Amino acid sequence: MKIMVVGGGGREHTIIKKLKENKEITEIFALPGNGGIAADATCVDIGAKDIAAIVEFAKEKGIDFAVVAPDDPLVLGAVDALSDAGIPCFGPSKAAAEIEGSKVFSKNLMKKYGIPTAEYEVFTEMDAALEYLKTAPIPTVIKADGLALGKGVIIAETRDAAYDAVKSMMEDKVFGASGSRIVIEEFLTGPEVSVLSFTDGKSIVPMVSSMDHKRALDGDCGLNTGGMGTIAPNPYYTDDIAKECMEKIFLPTINAMNAEGRKFKGCLYFGLMLTPNGPKVIEYNCRFGDPETQVVLPLLETDLLTIMKAVESETLADLDIKFSKGAAACVVMASKGYPEHYEKGFEITVDETCEAEVFVAGAVLRDGKLLTSGGRVLGVVATADNLENALTKAYKEVEKVHFDNAFYRHDIGKRALDALK
Ligand code: AMP
Ligand code: GLY
Repeated sequence: MKIMVVGGGGREHTIIKKLKENKEITEIFALPGNGGIAADATCVDIGAKDIAAIVEFAKEKGIDFAVVAPDDPLVLGAVDALSDAGIPCFGPSKAAAEIEGSKVFSKNLMKKYGIPTAEYEVFTEMDAALEYLKTAPIPTVIKADGLALGKGVIIAETRDAAYDAVKSMMEDKVFGASGSRIVIEEFLTGPEVSVLSFTDGKSIVPMVSSMDHKRALDGDCGLNTGGMGTIAPNPYYTDDIAKECMEKIFLPTINAMNAEGRKFKGCLYFGLMLTPNGPKVIEYNCRFGDPETQVVLPLLETDLLTIMKAVESETLADLDIKFSKGAAACVVMASKGYPEHYEKGFEITVDETCEAEVFVAGAVLRDGKLLTSGGRVLGVVATADNLENALTKAYKEVEKVHFDNAFYRHDIGKRALDALK
């Protein structure tokens, strides 16, 4: 059986390694993949957004099943195009991917169907937004409508910062067309939880919960990044909260998407905040999270391809999906300077004694050597019977991975451990 995975980061490396546990799979192609993924799949030099080339490749190779992992191709309609060409696919349609592709769409959906989220207003005119901000509660949160590489959210601590944020999005277009419509929303507080779920539009199976660490530096200091580390499960996400989320958020979201004629099939990611007034949705993603996937999938005990096929054929309810009772930790190694300017091209080496999984995000192969090519270079992932042991192991093993100018956070999971005590 031939599988194709669209994407080329640490998330895709993790998905590919998990898929490989299925022995019916004879070959996996990654489009475009990366230098680390090349050890586990055949990398093909086709960009994740080049939908015509992706479909052409899939037909030519006789791909039996495709997985589209990143947001961009999903929002552009890669799954629709592959399905039209007769290739079974894991991932939402373009219409369903709108749940991530447009913040205005997702906020209006939540309002219409009574799904708890921050209060908000939508603006298409800068003057109206600036006028609104004169009396809005501060801090306030300003979001560009469309995809902005995960950077389209500004938390303004002062009124002046809020004015500047609106101007940067609507006048200076720092996020391009994504900023021509904006959402200004209520600032919420509380622990954040990521819940990825499998859904075929009929039933929904939440995966083990996780926690991301978005800031670049220890103590949650520094700039926002694509994620510097993750742990699973998230200790703040108790069984009672899980039950409440299922009733008030997960099922209502699936029902809302069906009612809108946008049945969601794939991985639906709920970014939640556990506020003093209950769990609220901060964001939806139409895909696996990165680097959440790096800690969630290693704990999955059920065959991933079987689940993905059941989602595609809308038979998810027939499966009994199991996660291990243990825990996982991921420490991301990045290049000094990330998320701003950083250098590339340093050789990556991993000691033979390394017992952790190394999921590669930003690296290329040159003359048999693995060289850094991105800001977030790789994630070192350990699993164990509990979170403390998983973290101890991840931090021991990270010492066995080397490249010049590497840095990582030393406090991944610290807050979670404190919460457990
Ligand atoms: P997003 O790209 O929507 O995930 O937002 C990035 C981060 O901004 C989230 O992970 C939160 O930490 C923060 N954030 C987003 N919306 C809010 C909000 N309404 N209140 C407080 N923090 C928020
Ligand atoms: N880790 C957050 C995301 O994947 O968007």
